[in-house]
Amino acid sequence: MRRPVGTAVVIAAALTLAGCGADSSANTSAKPELKVTGAYMPAPIMDTMAAGFFTVTNSGGADTLTSVTSDLSDDVTLHSTQGGAMNEEKSFAIPADGTLAFASGGNHLMFEKLTHKPQEGEKVSLELHFAKTGTVKISMPVKSATYNPKTGH
Ligand code: CU
Repeated sequence: MRRPVGTAVVIAAALTLAGCGADSSANTSAKPELKVTGAYMPAPIMDTMAAGFFTVTNSGGADTLTSVTSDLSDDVTLHSTQGGAMNEEKSFAIPADGTLAFASGGNHLMFEKLTHKPQEGEKVSLELHFAKTGTVKISMPVKSATYNPKTGH
């Protein structure tokens, strides 16, 4: 007597394939809708190092800021500040329908090996690279060395 093993395997495979095609559109696959606001760079005291700040507001699905490039420097890094100590970060998560804020005393961009010393009133062009959205170009105005907007947090 032969057992119908083959038939059972074929049916299981067919069910698996049908499951793959099912609508699995969870919120995680929603497109990010990013807006970058409030960008500024305090005029650096020295020509070796500068910091930059901005806010990313997201009205869509989650995304990740993976890197930043600029004419001002070939060496732009992402930093967070915790307990007064700076840490270099590989990336920053932007939650769905959330905000990623860079602010004095917190997250910041660090520009090193500057091509020139930015002056107040100048604008530094940056490319922000996001995992899903791709590249977003922004213009970062250089403010006075002590500029620190109060955002009401
Ligand atoms: Cu830093």
